[in-house]
Amino acid sequence: MYFKQILDERCGCASYVVASRQSHEAAIVDPSIDTQQYEALLRERNFRLRYVIDTHVHADHVSGARELRAKPGAELCLHESAQVAYPFRPLKDGEELALGQLRVRVLHTPGHRAELISILIINPPRSPEPSMVLTGDSLLVGDVGRPDFGGGDAAAQYESLTRLLRLPDWVAVFPGHFEGPCGKGMCGRPSTTIGFERLYNPLARLDRGAFVSTLTDGVPARPLNMTAIEATNRGLAHMPWAMLTTAAGVREIDVNALESHPHDAVVLDVREPEEYAHGHVPGAISLPQADLASRLPEVPRDRPVITLCEHGIRSFRAAQFLRQMGIDQVASVKGGTAAWRAAGKPLAFGDTRLEKSRVTESEWTHAGASRYSI
Ligand SMILES: [Fe+2]
Repeated sequence: MYFKQILDERCGCASYVVASRQSHEAAIVDPSIDTQQYEALLRERNFRLRYVIDTHVHADHVSGARELRAKPGAELCLHESAQVAYPFRPLKDGEELALGQLRVRVLHTPGHRAELISILIINPPRSPEPSMVLTGDSLLVGDVGRPDFGGGDAAAQYESLTRLLRLPDWVAVFPGHFEGPCGKGMCGRPSTTIGFERLYNPLARLDRGAFVSTLTDGVPARPLNMTAIEATNRGLAHMPWAMLTTAAGVREIDVNALESHPHDAVVLDVREPEEYAHGHVPGAISLPQADLASRLPEVPRDRPVITLCEHGIRSFRAAQFLRQMGIDQVASVKGGTAAWRAAGKPLAFGDTRLEKSRVTESEWTHAGASRYSI
């Protein structure tokens, strides 16, 4: 067999190429939008693409599955419960796909998402047992996928983790993420084993109640541009530009500079609405990072923009995205609202909505946002 893990440092995602060296049939699991790398590999190895499998509808990166499906003979596969607006081969729990001598077995492991599947790889000439499992965002290294982005279920995640941890010790685990927002406490290694996770994954030791409350504790910070990315992956919009693909330099200002910011500047609070409601910097406007791309036309281009979050991490990436979209007068607040609060400055609790800006559609089309309504 052939197996390759491909790590995407931009979004912390892992994708996989599995193939039979005998039949030259290949499957690609959770492909990134950068599909040329897979096409080059298929060409070099003389592999024929049979299956493109998305373990679930992704919320943090745009999938390359539909682009790869266009290759002759390739089928796009998702769990039968996936809610998408394009045709796909619906997979059932326990179903096996043949890939030359290999068997690709589907394991429905909902939790992070209702439709999430794990993929067991079996190579019968070597063993009747699986030797590896691709877990998507169910079991991660030292963690599990977050169930609280919408469409997830912590109790289902508990059942899925229990099911996965019943696999034999030696089964190698290859997750869909090695870093990024889909898990709170990932270790950073790109793979592990069932035996190691059963012993040392901190969530594996919790009973159901403690597991559920740990996973649902606090306000979930949905990923940057999740609304646009998810709609694109469901086939309801075409916004591949919504992924942050550049690492633009962003000016950072402290909370004192924020307090004396120019009158015409717009301060965008990119935290979740619930965090905003619990107290925000006076005058800051709520625009959650998850909605930034889908609400981009509302961000004025003719005034300085200051992004703000809880600690300065989300706001920095939001500012990088605004720069990627051609907004150069942008700064991020170092230390965020927490630093503002710690400095004893006053908080506001009312609602401040972003006024419709005067940005025209043609201006945004020029900036690369060819279609932004979903
Ligand atoms: Fe995910």
